[in-house]
Amino acid sequence: MPRRVYLETFGCQMNELDSELVAGRLRTLGYAFTGESAEADVVLFNTCSVREHAEQKVWSRLGELKARKADDPNLVVGVLGCMAERDGEALIRRMPVVDVLCGPGELDKLPTLLDNAVRTRASLAADAPAEWPRGLRSAREVALQGNTSRRSATLAAAQDTLEMLDLSRAMSPTDGEGMPKRSAYVRITRGCNKFCTYCVVPFTRGAEVHRPPEHIIEECRRLADAGVVEITLLGQTVNHYRFEHGAAVTVNGVTQPQKGRSYTGGHRRDPFAGERVTTFADLLARIHDAVPSIQRLRFVTSYPRDFGDDALEAMRDHPRICRYLHVPGQSGSDRILGLMNRGYSVGEYIEFIDRARAILDQPEIGRPLAISGDFIVGFPTETDADFEATVAMLRRARYKSAFIFKYSARPGTVAIDKYPDDVPEAVKRRRNNALLAAQDAIGLEVGQSNIGRTMPVFVEGLSVRERKRRAAGACSAHGSVMLTVGGRVPSACGAGPSHGEEAHEESRAVERVQLSGRTDTDHIVLFDLPAGARVEDWIGRLVPVRITGATALALSGSPITA
Ligand code: 5AD
Ligand code: SF4
Repeated sequence: MPRRVYLETFGCQMNELDSELVAGRLRTLGYAFTGESAEADVVLFNTCSVREHAEQKVWSRLGELKARKADDPNLVVGVLGCMAERDGEALIRRMPVVDVLCGPGELDKLPTLLDNAVRTRASLAADAPAEWPRGLRSAREVALQGNTSRRSATLAAAQDTLEMLDLSRAMSPTDGEGMPKRSAYVRITRGCNKFCTYCVVPFTRGAEVHRPPEHIIEECRRLADAGVVEITLLGQTVNHYRFEHGAAVTVNGVTQPQKGRSYTGGHRRDPFAGERVTTFADLLARIHDAVPSIQRLRFVTSYPRDFGDDALEAMRDHPRICRYLHVPGQSGSDRILGLMNRGYSVGEYIEFIDRARAILDQPEIGRPLAISGDFIVGFPTETDADFEATVAMLRRARYKSAFIFKYSARPGTVAIDKYPDDVPEAVKRRRNNALLAAQDAIGLEVGQSNIGRTMPVFVEGLSVRERKRRAAGACSAHGSVMLTVGGRVPSACGAGPSHGEEAHEESRAVERVQLSGRTDTDHIVLFDLPAGARVEDWIGRLVPVRITGATALALSGSPITA
């Protein structure tokens, strides 16, 4: 009987990709996966340390496992990702249920760690001194990079076996729920060199390392062959991608990832682009042209200071690259941006937004540019005036959407040592709500500007509402439902007169199934599956949708099927 693994992912898209790669690797080694933690022999949490709140969730999950582990010492519990790297063995001291710690830079070692943990568990439990608590009668398996051993040279990167994890990616034609998989993440850069003072990422994920363009293009090609039509390129500062071919190291015939080296002579254009250097703009164009069956090419997250005109022009000139930029601004106050070590002023940020719009915003041909951002409110010393400047910048940038976070002081960062967390929680909350309200008003206007347009929508699957309805016992269990257009939407099976077969059939006959997809501007679009259509046939299709409504968060409309 194969070992059953439960793997839960917290945090960002980078973690989602890491989890997918780890799961693929473990599957090929004979592990099976379960969606129920209670059924698993191995419980893994892939964690995030960006904000304290994300860590608290993991602590409580680990706490829940204490009783179970006391009854079943053979249960293996692993903490992967940024929390493992940041807390190190202190995490095990606080939570002795944990057997395996594996940082995000060491995930290639996870199979060995798990294998050791699984194989040694029984014998250790038997041999341990009787006075030890049962949960402690085990060896720990630990793989962490440690801040001092951050990859710091091209040669170190050359020995980077982590690259093998990306390279050996299992190309699965279905997702975890058996639905066709049409959308995938591809990493182009690991780590970050920016050292924003509030951020743990440079410490947990290490220095910036760029993957060779050939590896990236090959991975895109293999994903496309497996049926993927939308690819999102990932990097903490994705547009900082730059690969110097002259400096590349080859081991056993394979070009190795490369430590990030910036061209610092100006941000508009890289004079070395072309043969010797693959810039971000080159990479976009190369993927676009090399893999024509990829209908949508997107990327996150961009760093405002590093955007050259060349990358914006590549977006404009290659029709399957999405008109969407996620460019965190973080604050609208120059003083706070300085304390954050963001490396740009408000003026420079706005100059970038205007430049991107000048090059890319083409509503007259149905291709507007959409921009989203991130903001932190309540950074140490932030005054009402600083905050008002942030509101002004958010209004000026006219984001499609924005993620707004309350500052969370993170151990190990520069900010926690240098700047006392002096903005009271109530003030952070008030500013958070005020900024959200300002963004909602703008998001609504931006959304409404799309009404009347027909926009190609990439169909992702059932809408959140539809999933909740099904989870609550709604009827259309098989994903293929006969529909009557214009029928009412029952709230759930249980809302009918009985749970009998007749009631079931009746609600199936009148039900609409709501799907969710995205425009190439990253707008969520909600629409009803046409009568007689099957959900699984629509997932991954690009469908023209006439936009008829908008809220601050989503558009709605009708698919044009003729
Ligand atoms: N506190 C609050 N928000 C943070 N972010 C990163 N670090 C912190 C922190 N310490 C936010 C930033 C970043 C996003 C991913 O998370 O806005 O862009
Ligand atoms: Fe963190 Fe700044 Fe790097 Fe983004 S750019 S990951 S906020 S250090």
